[in-house]
Amino acid sequence: MKELKGKTAFVTGGGSGIGLATARALGARGARLILADIDKARIEAAAADLRAAGVDALGLQLNVAEEADWARAGEAAAGFGEVRILFSNAGVGGGSGKFETYDPEVWRWAYAVNAHAHLYACRTFLGAMKAMGGPCHLALTSSMVAIVPPPISVAYISSKFATLGIATALRNELADTEVGISVLCPGMSATRIVETTQRLRPGASEQGAAAQTAQNMTSVLAGGMSPDKIGQRVVRAIERDEFFIFTHPEWKAMAEAQVAEMLAAFGESADPDYPGDDIESLVAANGAKRMNVAVAR
Ligand SMILES: NC(=O)c1ccc[n+]([C@@H]2O[C@H](COP(=O)([O-])OP(=O)(O)OC[C@H]3O[C@@H](n4cnc5c(N)ncnc54)[C@H](O)[C@@H]3O)[C@@H](O)[C@H]2O)c1
Repeated sequence: MKELKGKTAFVTGGGSGIGLATARALGARGARLILADIDKARIEAAAADLRAAGVDALGLQLNVAEEADWARAGEAAAGFGEVRILFSNAGVGGGSGKFETYDPEVWRWAYAVNAHAHLYACRTFLGAMKAMGGPCHLALTSSMVAIVPPPISVAYISSKFATLGIATALRNELADTEVGISVLCPGMSATRIVETTQRLRPGASEQGAAAQTAQNMTSVLAGGMSPDKIGQRVVRAIERDEFFIFTHPEWKAMAEAQVAEMLAAFGESADPDYPGDDIESLVAANGAKRMNVAVAR
């Protein structure tokens, strides 16, 4: 999507961190912004700041995990402009603690915000984006933890794997449309994510070792990359129609080691008499023309 000037972008989690930074970078390119966030005060302040900087911006309160909120957001967005850029970015940390003791309510919440919300976002805007003609772009925020998982929350890592999976699968679906797609996989960034997570999580607040981990993570993330740099990188990826958005190359050697381990695990077929999967038939059975990953066989 080469020209962003005058295009309308819808950004979730737009009240803070990477969402707000990307909104600013889009605004600097002349895009019009609809910022959506669960935090009403943050989103109103963020939209007012953008307007003061000369950007046409609307702030909307939206809980991305609530399907009914999306219907209202879709109506409000329609009154503002034709959404051509959708940045489904809102997310929360998973918290800490051993998996076998994890609170199911917190698990459902983390998945609802980090993964399920992408469906609601796409149900609200993607059909119209495909139909309107001309370039559009969808970007989803996953994380570097979905590429190389560090020893942090299982709920967070797995919900970010879900986002990477959604983006990868959608990439096939969007291949023959004018909607580009990107998946943002940042490493650490100095945002409010730990504080936001503690404030929004359902149920009792974390105690003991889990609370200590959250405190430690606040200090670690404070030294992370500026969200502004990540926002600028996201905008470049939209302009260049890049799928993977990697911002932290220091993880690359670990990604290589992980892929090498996976490749080494491919051995002999479990059935030496089996001729091999008919992948062309699989593609055709699903009404598709090709896969994004094509190799000579
Ligand atoms: N900060 C990092 O180190 C880092 C690294 C990789 C990926 N990410 C991802 O980046 C995205 C943005 O997070 P951030 O780091 O900018 O954090 P942040 O807390 O600064 O911003 C996230 C925003 O999302 C909003 N939000 C949370 N739940 C919501 C909901 N249910 N509905 C609507 N809005 C909601 C919050 O109010 C907040 O304003 C998340 O998806 C996060 O997982 C962050």
